[in-house]
Amino acid sequence: MCGIIGITMRRGNATPIIVEGLRRLEYRGYDSVGVALQSGGRVEIRKAKGTIDSFVRKASVMSLRGQTGIGHTRWATHGPPNDVNAHPHTDCRGEIAVVHNGVIRNYSSLREELAARGHRIISDTDTELIAHLLEEEASGTGSMVDALARTLSRLQGSYALAILYSREPGRVYFAKMHSPLILALGEEGNAVASDITAVLDVSRRIIPLNDGEFGWIGPEGVEIYRLTPSGYTRVPPREVESRVKFIEWTPEAASKAGYPHFMIKEIYEQPQAVMETFNGAVDDPALAEASRLIAGARDVLVVAAGTSYHAGLVFSYHLYRLARRHSIPIIASEYKQYSPAVGEDTVVVAVSQSGETYDTLAAVREYQSLGARIVGVTNVVGSALDRISDITVYTRAGPEIGVAATKTYLAQVTVLTLLAGYTGEARGVLDRGAREVREPLSRVHEVVNDAIRSSEPYAKQLAGLEGSMYILGRGLGSHIAREAALKVKEIAYLHAEAYPAGESKHGPIALVEPGFPVFIVATSDSPEVAGNAIEMHSRGGRVMVTKPADMGLEIPRGIEVLDLPPSHGDPVLEPFILAPFYQLLAYYAAVKRGYDPDKPRNLAKTVTVE
Ligand code: M6R
Repeated sequence: MCGIIGITMRRGNATPIIVEGLRRLEYRGYDSVGVALQSGGRVEIRKAKGTIDSFVRKASVMSLRGQTGIGHTRWATHGPPNDVNAHPHTDCRGEIAVVHNGVIRNYSSLREELAARGHRIISDTDTELIAHLLEEEASGTGSMVDALARTLSRLQGSYALAILYSREPGRVYFAKMHSPLILALGEEGNAVASDITAVLDVSRRIIPLNDGEFGWIGPEGVEIYRLTPSGYTRVPPREVESRVKFIEWTPEAASKAGYPHFMIKEIYEQPQAVMETFNGAVDDPALAEASRLIAGARDVLVVAAGTSYHAGLVFSYHLYRLARRHSIPIIASEYKQYSPAVGEDTVVVAVSQSGETYDTLAAVREYQSLGARIVGVTNVVGSALDRISDITVYTRAGPEIGVAATKTYLAQVTVLTLLAGYTGEARGVLDRGAREVREPLSRVHEVVNDAIRSSEPYAKQLAGLEGSMYILGRGLGSHIAREAALKVKEIAYLHAEAYPAGESKHGPIALVEPGFPVFIVATSDSPEVAGNAIEMHSRGGRVMVTKPADMGLEIPRGIEVLDLPPSHGDPVLEPFILAPFYQLLAYYAAVKRGYDPDKPRNLAKTVTVE
């Protein structure tokens, strides 16, 4: 889950571009930062524990000058976060510098082997071993391409690598296996990085790399090779050219643009994100094709992790109610349980903002190998999920940098609600056909705008909550509650437990004592939730009901009511009305408690390890 970048320019200084790229990659990990630059036939390295800001202040990185360099931001796997374990790592002679995202599984045996051959290994990382292996291979051959291919054949596990070799100025070598990596081809130079946002300053013409590919970039060109069972082969230039994609994201979209944090910027960008997603999806032939596939399937599995899983729960709910289609929502890391029944008549809807989440991709690969058809829902064009899906439906939320998924959640809900409605139409079970979802969703921009405006004062007022809390809902509300609790936990570090409200009296209510905060996510499918609010209130809980303003609930005095924009009884709009309040609550609570909402501890935005 680390972020890597490599840049080679025709002229000028690569350092500021690498540092800016690392800022955009920081969501992938912020345990340490490091940069290596080629300069005067040497590789110069600066690295340190901590964030990019402290690194720039302390490590004199900005004094490095050169046209070719690599950088890394770390989410620690092997060894604690400290200066020594920070990347880049080098060989014994300091000629090779390596940055790495991934996990080398045969780390222990390689380490023993290298140590026995006299290599002095100074860090706890698996990455350093790659530098030493390369050193051995490079000394036996004139070609770094050969040396890299042989080194890669020794590695088991996952890697995205960027490598400098002091004897080959102007080149950054790269390799990819199970960790994301893209190339960017620009007028002034070329780049390689873990994701698109990091290289937007170099180019928006990108090539997503496939597993088993490696090669080099120079200021004037790139070469890509593919590992084969007997060695490697060069990817023909014509094929490389045909894989170039143009990305619409701009560098400004990936900047804070004056906001104190990406998270709040992205919360405010939600009206735009849902509108663009709706406009892009509503007449998208891929969506229609996906709905026909789902309509005709024997089994429908919905696979995702974290927030994307919560969007998947909303999809599964709508699919049942709007299309009378049963589906099984699956937490991606649990995919193996369901493999025995997967076959050619299974359709898998895989949801992933990044399109690179390890567990989701592992599930998709396994189900695909068993014959299932894959409908991918992702925000990232050219991501691994995009490339392996039979059909891809895009969310168009723009780049999301904050670790907390906010705008991509509502964008996913937009596209998945349309997909459920279109499936209902394909199955002929909706009186008004797809208009049942199209019409309400055509107003989603203003609904989200109003929801943010009316939620903000409530969220600021409640930001001082302490301790634990319940977030309860029934029906659709129970799914929204799960996303709400995730936001509060991961960003504000407050324990928040989501529970189906009706089930709460079968155990959880025992924890409720005077003042215990209980939020209720009221949705129009479940007016019974008022009874659960009263039960909690009777035990002394501080009960706060969030609801669409036009939802009539008989709520006794003493229970706080947080009225949000009306839904006119249309459940399709309710996630858009209710979710922003909880996002803002998490955000303001984090800020009040002195935490950085963009860098929640122990987390990385894209989880590319098992
Ligand atoms: O990129 P993905 O949507 O596949 O990521 C899945 C989860 O890691 C992600 O949704 C995570 O739970 C959120 N960042 C939490 O806000």
